[in-house]
Parts: sequence; structure tokens; C-alpha cells
Amino acid sequence: MKNRFILLLFAIPFLACNNQVKEKKGKIMEGANVEATIDSLINLMTVEEKIEMIHAKSPFVSSGVKRLGIPDLIMSDGPYGVRLEQGDDYAPKPNVDDEATYLPKGLTLASTWNAELGYEFGKVLGSEAKERGKNIILGPGVNITRSPLNGRNFEYLGEDPYLSSIMAVGYIKGVQDQGVAACVKHYLANNQEFHRTTVNVLMSERALREIYLPAFKAAVQDGKVLAVMGSYNKFRGQYCTHNQYLINDVLKKEIGFNGLLVSDWGAVHNSREAMLNGTDLEMGTDISMMPKPDYNKFFMADSALALVKNGEIPLSVLDDKIRRILRVMFKTSMANNNKTGERNTKEHQQTALKIAEEGIVLLKNDNILPLNMESVKSIAVIGDNATHKHSMGGGSSQIKAKYEITPLEGLKTVCGNNVKISYAAGYKLSKNNEIDEKLIAEAVKLAKSSEIAIVVGGWIQNWSVSTWSDNVLDSEDTDKPNMNMPFGQDKLIQEVIKANPNTIVVLIGGGPVDMNLWVNQAKGIIQAWYPGMEGGNALANIISGKINPSGKLPMTFPKKLEDCPAHKLGEFPGKNDVVNYFDDIFVGYRYYDTYKVAPQFSFGHGLSYTSFEYSDLKLVADGKNVKVSFSVKNTGKKEGAEVTQVYVNDVEASVKRPEKELKGFSKVFLAVGESKKVEMVLNESAFSFYDETKKSWVMEPGEFKIMVGSSSSDIRQTKSIKL
Ligand code: GLC
Repeated sequence: MKNRFILLLFAIPFLACNNQVKEKKGKIMEGANVEATIDSLINLMTVEEKIEMIHAKSPFVSSGVKRLGIPDLIMSDGPYGVRLEQGDDYAPKPNVDDEATYLPKGLTLASTWNAELGYEFGKVLGSEAKERGKNIILGPGVNITRSPLNGRNFEYLGEDPYLSSIMAVGYIKGVQDQGVAACVKHYLANNQEFHRTTVNVLMSERALREIYLPAFKAAVQDGKVLAVMGSYNKFRGQYCTHNQYLINDVLKKEIGFNGLLVSDWGAVHNSREAMLNGTDLEMGTDISMMPKPDYNKFFMADSALALVKNGEIPLSVLDDKIRRILRVMFKTSMANNNKTGERNTKEHQQTALKIAEEGIVLLKNDNILPLNMESVKSIAVIGDNATHKHSMGGGSSQIKAKYEITPLEGLKTVCGNNVKISYAAGYKLSKNNEIDEKLIAEAVKLAKSSEIAIVVGGWIQNWSVSTWSDNVLDSEDTDKPNMNMPFGQDKLIQEVIKANPNTIVVLIGGGPVDMNLWVNQAKGIIQAWYPGMEGGNALANIISGKINPSGKLPMTFPKKLEDCPAHKLGEFPGKNDVVNYFDDIFVGYRYYDTYKVAPQFSFGHGLSYTSFEYSDLKLVADGKNVKVSFSVKNTGKKEGAEVTQVYVNDVEASVKRPEKELKGFSKVFLAVGESKKVEMVLNESAFSFYDETKKSWVMEPGEFKIMVGSSSSDIRQTKSIKL
């Protein structure tokens, strides 16, 4: 009886919270009453119940406290769609209704440079996570593209901290407005997959503050993200997931993160460190215990209980973890069920299409695109990637897509009956990269007999529609060996172009390839990333001119790997499990522009079927802020969107600073002949650098150059200002 009384009495705060929340018409509880409710719950929990809450009870679930009405916490991958259901052995569960909307993969979203689409992306993801009963969705991934070889670049948002921050914040707000917690990852400096669980990353404080930390700081301070995932690697000698400096000092104290730090799966290695250095929830340690995991053997289970009981770990440290977990519960719809999600709706699929259409990048166009489907008679579509499906590839971010439109299917739709479209594989997937001359010959024959040839190639993520173990090249747990396209694609493309100069190359993948052998001969080049379930339609809509492309590269495409700063100045992937980021703050265009190394295609580059004119750049100093305004006009024959980019250069700096840094952008949609005025305010942070001696951001007075342009190398207007 007594227990039941306690249950009733103390489940009330949780239930009451529910009712209060209902009274407030679903307004999620905030401020003092959440904290007060949390304190009352903590005071009623036994230490054993608290320990139960800070480690997994199955692959993607951690315990609540049934006695007090506190529910289990349910998590799911991934960053661009709710992952298929897995069993206690992590194997896909059969016969489950877990098909989902497969949104375009990370880099595609980043290439839209459209913050509103970031929100729309998150809204779909959050809604589908809610519908599938998930409380935390494990995304966005925001690790900076330091080398083109990183296997997981496809999942992230590119090389620039400012662009990554803006896109991540939109995504996080979209997810969390659906009553689901987002979980920004992988904190931090998880910029390679080679030896990801052991490699020790060494970098300067400036590189940390100016390049690798900003997207996480924005996720917390602007996005109000409720969860952060600690990464596998070490940082300055300590595992990131239980890193005193990164988690306790920087993330929680300095940045003010009061949500939940969850480990990456199997990233915890030490009980004391995990308890004292800021890990709030340990997941995935069962992976190393298969096939019979014992959840009491997690580092933050029995051994942590012993440390608390013998006084080595203060109870207050444990309580802080519980508080953070409960905050996630109270700040999501776990505390109020006023949100019901949706899955596989037409609207969700339309959002996937829109993001792909705005994220696909037109790199080169020698008067061949768009194709006029009224007059073109025949098209040869060549390449395995024209028919390959990618949703299940890439590792933990895999999606069982409701459907996936391939490039060939999309092209057939736009060709209708008046264009003869034919297909040849051109190359075949092989583990040892052999060139199939027969396939090349077939493709060449088809190209010769067609008006237009479209080669769809690039990287792949999985050999078949299988799961984890078959991932290759563009995938978690592996880095690419080099920038060369596999399976003899370079030879194929050269031969096809020889047979038919009207050749367009479409690249699928998570980053640049070495295209030196054919970049000057191909008339059109399109970067399509992994464009999601509607990717084939988006690509076809761009090729046929139904959609005017507006995507811009979120990373530099170097001419060759040796030009890349991580490989030229720094180490990649390091040796003896240590990787030195000697490239420091000179990542991407910050390097190429400062060291005058011409890339193949620049950061921020992307062509349109129309043209834009910039004029009237004005700068007005307002204290330490600068009001920037300029006009953009559509001077071409098609409506279109332009991503106007604003870069800053510190002309007189006491430290070495990049030739330019992105500090603002705005995507403007313009009808033919229409002109719009763009205005933005650059605040002090846009002019500051991190001073390692002062251990703070510093804006040195003096001259600054403000550059406005269509890409980092296509600057249209420049003005200087003294601050
Ligand atoms: C993986 C990934 C992480 C994912 C987690 C759960 O190893 O690094 O991104 O969310 O485990 O699957």
C-alpha cells in the first residue's frame, strides 16, 4: 500500500506536469517549474534507480523509473531519416513497418544555403521520429570537412563553420518544434573514420575555437539543442566522450549547455572519467559484448554505482546527469503528448524533392544545359549510379526509404515519349576496381548513336541494398583511399566524350573526385551528392530546365588531393594513432585563397541558368557592427535564386588570418528583371579572431575588407571600412 501511495504521490509531478502542460494548451513546461519538478523527482529516486538511468538497457533505449512514472528514453538514427528498427543484436528487425522519408543526405542540404529549408528538413525528420515513438533523433552531424577522403563527409554540412552553424540551427529547431530532441554530433573533431575510436586529435586552440567548435556552440546557444553526442576519438589525449576540457569546461560551463551529453555507441572507456568528465548517458557498450550483452557491465552501471557508494563520486555529480536526462524529457513531448507525428506523407516527400532541387550543384555548363526536351531526340544514360539506390548505404545513417527515384527513372519521366532514352551500365562494381572494357564499349556505342550522353558516376555507399557490412568508399567506419573515381569511370567518361562531345557528367557522392582527365572536355558537370528519395526527379528537373539550379558548394573541390591543406600542411589520417591538425585554421577556402592554390571548383560555387548582377554595396559602421547592403538583379532569361555571400578580410591583423572568411549569406529568389536589396548586420564576431594568449575573441581596430559575391572566388563587389 505504502509503495502504491508513494507512486501515486510522486508520479503526480510527472503526471501533473502533463496536465499543467495540457492546461497550457501543450506549451511545454519551462523554467522554474520544470527544475522544481525535476528536483522533487530526484529526491525520491534511489541511487540504484539513478544509475539505471545513465546507461543503455538495449541498443537505442535507456531506462526511466517506472515506480515514479518516468518513461524510458528512446533514441534513433539518423541525420536525414528515421532509421529502420533494430533488434537487441542491432540486426534489422524483420516484418516491421519502418519505411521512412529518405531526405537528401547532409551535404545536399548544406548546398541549398537556405536556412528555411534547414528548418523544413528538421520538421519532417522530427515529425517522422515522433510518429515512430522516438524521443531523440541522432542528428544533425556537423563535423567540418577537413579532408575530401573522410568517409562520413556526406553526412555533414561542409568545410565552413558559419554555413554549418546556420544550417544546423534551422534543422535543430525544425526537429525540436515537433516535440523530439535533436542530438548534434559528433562532439568533436571526428573528421576522419580511420581509427576513429582510438585516434588522438591534436590542434591549436584557435583551430578549435574558429573552425571545429562553432557549429556545436551555435547548436547549443542558437538552436537550443537538447542533446549532444560525444565522439569516438580522443582530443588532446582524452576521449572526447569523457573529456574534462571539452565537456565540463567548454560545452557545459563556458557555452552553457544544460542538456544531455550522450556517448557515441561504445565510445565510453572508463567509469571514473565518464562519471567525472561529463558523460550523462552511456550507449552502445553492448556492441562489444555481443551476442550476450550484460547491461550491468556498462562503465556507468555497477562500477559507477560502486564509486558513488564509496564516496569517490559525489552524489551531486550523479544527480546532475539525472537532471539533464529529465530536462530532455520535460522539454520534449514526453511531458505532453500534444504532438502526433506523421510518416511518408506527400508533403514530406515534396520537402525531400525541394531540398534536392535546391541542393544539386551545377558546376560546369558549356551551353549544353538545360536540355530542351521538346527538341532533343535521343539521350544515352550511362553509369551504374544512374540506377543504384543509396538510402541503405553509409552506415548508421541508413534509411529504409519508402521509395527512391533513381536518376534514370527521373530522366525517363521528364523525357516522356518524345525523347528516346537508353541505358548502359558503363562500369560495374567490383571490390578490386577492375575496368570492364566490354561495358565501356557498349556505353561508347550507345553514346555515339545518341544526341546527348549523360554519365552518372561518382562514389557509392554499399554494394547492394544491404546494410552495414557492405559499405564502401562513402561510408562510416572507412575513409576513401584517394580522390580517384573507382571502377574505371575516368576511362569510361573519356571514351564517351570522344564518342560524343555532348556529354554531361553527373557525380553522386559525398565530396570531390579527381576529374583532371575529363573536366575540360565534359560540356556539363553536375554534383548531385546523395539527393534522397526524390533525387532522380530533382536531377531530371534541373537537366530539363523545369528547375533552375541554385545549389552552391559547401566545400572546396581541389584539383588534386595533394593540394588539400589537411594533406599538405597537416596530417591525414595521422600515424601511430595521433593526427596533428597543422593545417590549423586554414581549412578549405581559408587555405586555397590565402595560399593562392587554385581549386577545381571553389567553395560557394554553383551555376544558374540565368545571370545576376550585384550593385550598390554600402557599408555603414555602427559601433563595432557594420550594416551591409547591396542589390542583386536577375539579368537573364529565367527566374532563379542566387546565394549572395559576404566575406570578411582583416587587412591589418597581428596574427595570420585567412584571405577571407564567410560571415553572412542570403538566398534571394528573383523573377526575370527583378532586383532586390539585401541587408545584413555583421556584428563584432564577424571581425574577431580567437587570441590564444588572451584566451578570448579579439576584434583588433583597423581596416577590414567586405567582399560580396556569388562564390568565394567570384567576388562581385568589395569595399573597405575602418573599425
Ligand atoms: C555510430 C555513429 C553515430 C550513431 C551511433 C548509433 O557508430 O558514430 O553517428 O548515431 O553509432 O548508431
